[in-house]
Amino acid sequence: MTNGSAPAEAAFEGGGPVPQSGIGFYGHVKQYHNLKAEIDQAILDVLESGSYVLGPQLVKFEEELAGHLRVQETVGVNSGTDALLLVFLALGLGPGDEVITTSNTFFATAEAIWLAGATPVFVDSDQKTRNVDATKIEAAITPRTRAIVPVHLYGLAADMPAVAEVAKAHDLFVVEDCAQAIGARGDRFAIGEWSDAVCLSFIIQKNLGCFGDGGAVATNHQDLATKIRKLRNHGSLKRSYHSIGYNSRLDDVHAAVLRVKLKHVDEWSERRREIARLYDNGLAEAPMTLPFTPHGYEHVYHLYVIESDDRDGLQAYLNSKGITALTHYPIAIHQQEDFPWGRPARVTSLPITEKSAASVLSLPMYPELTNAEVERVIEEILNWTANREALSQQAV
Ligand SMILES: Cc1ncc(COP(=O)(O)O)c(C=O)c1O
Repeated sequence: MTNGSAPAEAAFEGGGPVPQSGIGFYGHVKQYHNLKAEIDQAILDVLESGSYVLGPQLVKFEEELAGHLRVQETVGVNSGTDALLLVFLALGLGPGDEVITTSNTFFATAEAIWLAGATPVFVDSDQKTRNVDATKIEAAITPRTRAIVPVHLYGLAADMPAVAEVAKAHDLFVVEDCAQAIGARGDRFAIGEWSDAVCLSFIIQKNLGCFGDGGAVATNHQDLATKIRKLRNHGSLKRSYHSIGYNSRLDDVHAAVLRVKLKHVDEWSERRREIARLYDNGLAEAPMTLPFTPHGYEHVYHLYVIESDDRDGLQAYLNSKGITALTHYPIAIHQQEDFPWGRPARVTSLPITEKSAASVLSLPMYPELTNAEVERVIEEILNWTANREALSQQAV
């Protein structure tokens, strides 16, 4: 099976060619086909309505998303990156301010901190969850620290109560980067409960994705929501009245599409967990590290990421068998060439992050995968494992 989407895959994996294969990495075209009648109608309705920007579909989507997340307000913006940037600006973060985050994340987490003029401070990840190691945050705090930005990496909530405890003790803002984790939960907490704001991305391949770029900020602080509404629309809440802002609105066509998809996101998360269980069981004996979910947490498996001491060998083998496996993220932010590009940054010791970068491999994971496809991925990984062992024995 292919999902017929190689060009789009290439576009959002940084422009490089992503091999076309029997089992692709993304299911968004299949997802569109499954919901085609409803999505097509929703788009046509917006086109006929003539309201394309800051219109009724956006208002309804924001209400429905707030209800889904159980937060007071959401504000639609044009990307997850802008969601982060506008929150940082609305909180007044800027030059001289330090923001603690992780280096094991998509680049945009740190990029938004730089774009706000502030200084990212990178602390290490937890060995098991790969999320920020909350026990390492305190040591990274200085008098300039203003905020902590935990990332719910791969769809697993970071330890928010622990992050919030440090933040409270030092009077810091907390902004959750939830680009990969809509629907995730902790054992005794929900996303949004322990922070000032939550930033979401709706780029194509996300668990709730539109047909391009989109994002939102969710918050229980009405004043913050109002500032972001202003910032996203040229500093304006009212026609002809402005202050400096941006053009960063989630358009109504995408809001309408997201309204259709939002109704399915919980069942898709459930299917992702089912697929994860198949992988967990099938690969339980394989010599590799499988994703870890702390007791009581609800993972939404945006990505199913294993760690192997021969990641490149396994990736090449799977790709040669027509199975696309990708890496998230093979070069940590602080390891990028020319880092930090003349901008301020502080890097603490990051051994876990660096080990992850060298060993992570993401297997196909999307609700439209069939069980047979998942079994095939498992079978090929086990084949590779067996061959690898045989080859090592021959070499002895
Ligand atoms: C963890 C993380 N943060 C931020 C972003 C930025 O979101 P966007 O691509 O919508 O700007 C992404 C995804 O792309 C992400 O995965």
